[in-house]
Amino acid sequence: MDQIDKIKESFDIDIVTVKNTSDLEQLRVKYVGRKGLVTNAFSLIKDIPNQDKPKFGAELNKCKNYIENLLTEKKNGFGESSQSKDALDLSLPGRKQFFGRKHPLIQVEDQIKDIFRSFGFSVEDGPEIETDYYNFEALNIPKSHPARAMQDTLYITEDIVLRTHTSPVQIRVMENTPPPIRIIAPGRVYRRDTPDATHSPFFHQVEGLVVSDTVTFADLKGIIQAFAHRMFGKDAKVRFRPSFFPFTEPSAEYDVWFNGKWMEISGCGMVHPNVFRAVKIDPQKYSGYAFGMGIDRIAMLKYNVRDIRLFFENDLRFLQQF
Ligand code: DAH
Repeated sequence: MDQIDKIKESFDIDIVTVKNTSDLEQLRVKYVGRKGLVTNAFSLIKDIPNQDKPKFGAELNKCKNYIENLLTEKKNGFGESSQSKDALDLSLPGRKQFFGRKHPLIQVEDQIKDIFRSFGFSVEDGPEIETDYYNFEALNIPKSHPARAMQDTLYITEDIVLRTHTSPVQIRVMENTPPPIRIIAPGRVYRRDTPDATHSPFFHQVEGLVVSDTVTFADLKGIIQAFAHRMFGKDAKVRFRPSFFPFTEPSAEYDVWFNGKWMEISGCGMVHPNVFRAVKIDPQKYSGYAFGMGIDRIAMLKYNVRDIRLFFENDLRFLQQF
């Protein structure tokens, strides 16, 4: 009987030092395992006088139940957290981290901004929901003008449109800033186009505008050329083709030669006197040049992407390449 008491006492001391499930397992083995203290005590029964056997057996069983109950209680108390700590397998390879990154079009936009900042331009912003006045009227495109047919406008009301180009930012800047002006304005534009390899109902442009008392068409050509060299390397060539835009006179379209082909980038020209008049800048005193740029086109040219829709499908197999 003393022995049984000793086992219980020693168990009571051991159980408070248990910190995790493996300590607990050691205790289980020590007391109720195959060669445990309780198990061994059962083998004493044969040496005990017959009349004492039932009492001893009952006491030992009580002790065994006591120990087993406490072990189970403790085990449940550890719950999952200590189990998963015990289950930590240091030999497993680590989990790979996936980092996000900038979309290729934003990367190109950032490069364009960097290049023009280094030329002394500042970066401006304008609303994507525009009024008819800024998108057309002030840019010398009156209601009846056939040039409106060039741009498949998404109208919200008769007077409010999703901007079809970034050119309205020219007007907003000139209204608020006296010359000299040297800005670019990148952003998203919208047109009622059916998507195909080279068309998307929204795409990205950068507007450029320089106004001072001295600028000429030669400055315009120089800046486009310098930009092309910075963007595409010194072998890139630029060509200008006569064209028409209501807000510039003369106007041109320009292409860049890169990777063995010409790619049309956008239009440019000298700011039309009517545009200056709309923002109350004296066309006799000031001159200016303006240019557009298709960011998506530049990205397609630079990365040799043949379908503009790939940029907007959000397919990681495509995006991860950049
Ligand atoms: N806004 C024109 C377009 O979206 C592009 C453009 C042409 C911009 C000539 C200009 C410019 O600033 O001078 O098609």
